[in-house]
Amino acid sequence: MFSTLPPGEWPGGEGDAFSRPDAEATPVLCHKSEAWVHVRYSSLTPALSRRERQEYASRISCELAARPSFCVAARKFGRKGRAIRAHPGCPSPHITMSHLAGARMEWHFSRRLAWAATENALARAEAAARASGRPLLDLTVSNPTQVGLPYPDDDIGRAFANATTSPYQPTPFGLPGARAAVVGDYARCGVDVDVSQVVLTASSSESYALLFKLLGDPGQSVLCPEPSYPLFEYLARLENLTPRPYRLRFDGGWHIDFPSLDLADAAAIILVSPNNPTCSFVSSDDFDRLAGLAAEHGRALIVDEVFADFPISPAAGAVTAVAGRTSPALVFSLGGLSKSCGLPHLKLGWLAATGPTALVNDALARLELIADTYLSVGTPVQLALPGLLQAGAAIRRQIIERVQHNRRALAQALGTHSPCSLLPAEAGWCAILRVPEIMSDEAWASALLEQDSVLVQPGYFFDLAMGATLVLSLIVQEHVFAEGVARLLARVAAM
Ligand SMILES: Cc1ncc(COP(=O)(O)O)c(C=O)c1O
Repeated sequence: MFSTLPPGEWPGGEGDAFSRPDAEATPVLCHKSEAWVHVRYSSLTPALSRRERQEYASRISCELAARPSFCVAARKFGRKGRAIRAHPGCPSPHITMSHLAGARMEWHFSRRLAWAATENALARAEAAARASGRPLLDLTVSNPTQVGLPYPDDDIGRAFANATTSPYQPTPFGLPGARAAVVGDYARCGVDVDVSQVVLTASSSESYALLFKLLGDPGQSVLCPEPSYPLFEYLARLENLTPRPYRLRFDGGWHIDFPSLDLADAAAIILVSPNNPTCSFVSSDDFDRLAGLAAEHGRALIVDEVFADFPISPAAGAVTAVAGRTSPALVFSLGGLSKSCGLPHLKLGWLAATGPTALVNDALARLELIADTYLSVGTPVQLALPGLLQAGAAIRRQIIERVQHNRRALAQALGTHSPCSLLPAEAGWCAILRVPEIMSDEAWASALLEQDSVLVQPGYFFDLAMGATLVLSLIVQEHVFAEGVARLLARVAAM
């Protein structure tokens, strides 16, 4: 997406600030008829007065303006890093395009994400295997609509019966009926929240985005559990926040490693309960301590509970619904149709704000402005929500049965003498399998893919730092899961 300017010589003699070829110029097209010139030449800057810098930028600007398709303004970063926009009408007696010889011209894109990040070796191997048409046993699928579950299509259709013809009703936090339906869903879990505390979003990912806008200033960090769901890296960086990990430690159960929690400069703390992939609920002791710390520092907790509806074996003292627990800190609990009802394609999530009332009200008033700016949840899905939550109960039951069946099958296949071990799970859709540490988890995953056509996720994808671990999805179709596990254990035995 970038081109190099034509070669030429820089003008001026020795010591002429404009003659330095080490300047880096990055003209940037904003749209078809406009270009911005970012002239970063830190090596020159100290040698130039403010007036010289402006003149320099203006000259480049005018030169580029001479290019037929560009209407140009020039911008250069001054000594203090402030952008100076050049005067567009400045004549350009001496500088020509050749003065930018060797400089790189690049379309401008945000630096929020390291887009240059390359695909990992496993993803490349998977793509190659798929391209070759080789059938794979995919034990990574976490999309419930792709694992052969029978969906109650008629019920879903009925939920939408009158939804599509209804007029558009823009409401920042969602339609009252839909928010009331979420309150009803919390009540199903024994949690009492008021409709005013509930905000509808298009997904949990969008809930994070709204909350990061509410809580964070660009450059601040957001504390993320590790191991956990890898998308936080992206969700945070897209909001100009820096994800900073805090560790969860395993001693037969998972606990927050409080010494690793550094609240300095943190905009918010994320907690995932049940966590993905550790399948662990936060314990009441850990939650209370974390909420106390958060309150002490004036920081909110964002608690992702999207897997809370899928209990396997919750430990005594597990907090199974954070919105139902008293907290001295502001808490946002996240849920949604995507997991709880197995309906990710309908794009409806929610959050519930709890904690001290004045704080909740203040936060919601601010959040309303943010939500009002996007109004991203469709009217039909909101109108359909009461029916979808009902229909979703049947899907949820099937997912629970599938997860339990596959977990039992895995435990049976392992037996009592396997060199692999299954980590305990309180809730969720996946299993962590410890495999012999004769090679890395990545090497295990790639051996399984290359030699057995079995696709699994290596633990390092989730920052699991406990030897060699593989993460298996438990919502995979039973026969696919059983065959994949059989091949996995045969590979372990053969090593
Ligand atoms: C912990 C966690 N939170 C959120 C999500 C995404 O949910 P949604 O589809 O509502 O954005 C996932 C998806 O796998 C997840 O694992």
